[in-house]
Amino acid sequence: MIRQVSSSVIRSLSAHGGKSQVPKKFVGTARCLSTSPWANYEMAPLDPIIGLTEQYNQDSFPQKVIVGVGAYRDDGGKPYILPCVREAEDRLFKKHLDMEYSGIAGDANFVEESLKFGYGEDCVALQENRVQGVQALSGTGGLRVMGELLRKNGHRHIYVPNPTWGNHKAIFTNAGLEVKTYAYYDAESSSLDFDSLVKDLKDIPSGSAVLLHACAHNPTGMDPTMDQWKEISSICKERGLLPFFDMAYQGFASGCAATDAAALRMFVDEGHLVCTIQSFSKNFGLYGHRVGTLSVVGATEEEAQKVVSQLKLVIRPMYSNPPRHGARIVQTILSDPMLREDWEVQCAGMAARINTMRTVLRERLSAVGSSRNWNHITKQIGMFAFSGLSKEQVMKMREKHHVYCTLDGRISMAGVTSGNADYIAEAIHDVSK
Ligand SMILES: Cc1ncc(COP(=O)(O)O)c(C=O)c1O
Repeated sequence: MIRQVSSSVIRSLSAHGGKSQVPKKFVGTARCLSTSPWANYEMAPLDPIIGLTEQYNQDSFPQKVIVGVGAYRDDGGKPYILPCVREAEDRLFKKHLDMEYSGIAGDANFVEESLKFGYGEDCVALQENRVQGVQALSGTGGLRVMGELLRKNGHRHIYVPNPTWGNHKAIFTNAGLEVKTYAYYDAESSSLDFDSLVKDLKDIPSGSAVLLHACAHNPTGMDPTMDQWKEISSICKERGLLPFFDMAYQGFASGCAATDAAALRMFVDEGHLVCTIQSFSKNFGLYGHRVGTLSVVGATEEEAQKVVSQLKLVIRPMYSNPPRHGARIVQTILSDPMLREDWEVQCAGMAARINTMRTVLRERLSAVGSSRNWNHITKQIGMFAFSGLSKEQVMKMREKHHVYCTLDGRISMAGVTSGNADYIAEAIHDVSK
């Protein structure tokens, strides 16, 4: 089969005086598809989370509902831009800032504010400059860069909870680490399986990196209590493990930034030398701006600085430097006491709406006649309800009711509204009775 080379290609070739890298025989003529360099590429499967939105978008059913992707919606089902973010944008716009490259480590003022926000202003390690970090391409980018650094420095594997956020495995595998799991959840009782977690942590080889969800565990919505975190901290110390905190929901779980960072702060107070990613996607609603921080706590300031210098070596050939605008927004909010207060109220408002929807969904499930125990929906925290629906039930709910959640039965509570809660409850009841 032959194909004409497009006129724009020919125009572009002419613009370069005809001196192209394209072999002469292909110019302006044809090319056999069997010689295509792409001929052996297979169509990749859709991403299990992002791909769900693509499927949903193609569905023409009027009452369709998506509760898949973890992105906050208001009670009308619309994306929500925090008023404090709008205000920060207005202020930035008036400054007519330049659009030069950032440094490899990003915006130092943003990183400083971000570390205070995460670790707490009174953190002794922070005051001793032993906490150092870089701006990251949100949580995902921070995880990947840290994964690369760990692999470059002798780590062969990393432990993540079972289950965990769907992307963790791919991120760390692509960074060259073997991904191993530790027990976390008991599906039977829909609760944290703390005994098995403790048992597994005690068996992890010393020196291993262990990923811990700082709050609002995704997908289960079950976090350890503070006493349980203390026990985890002791085991990590005894075993010489490297705690790696993934803090993607600070402020979103309880509505209070300090409460949600309590586990990380306790670990650092207890002397752990941790690494942490912070994401500002959910709590500041800056999903598409890719704003985050990757940081480490060193034994000394010099040690932490050395790690940052190594992080820069990973970043430079990967994406060179991070984008500026979103980091400027967060920095503007965190460094202005009034805007910071506004953020606290607005973030707490998002968390509160989600909690209300948990109660509403549970009540509607009994109202439509479900006799199953749905107490875990209100027991869990953060953005998701880990419903307990099986893969088959999820598929049936998609096909019969056009309600889209991930195959593991995870429902994004941020997508549940007063308007669709009845419909979702009926769909869940129908597939689970
Ligand atoms: C546990 C966890 N970590 C990290 C991320 C990364 O998010 P982002 O890259 O948008 O910051 C997410 C997003 O869903 C998450 O749930």
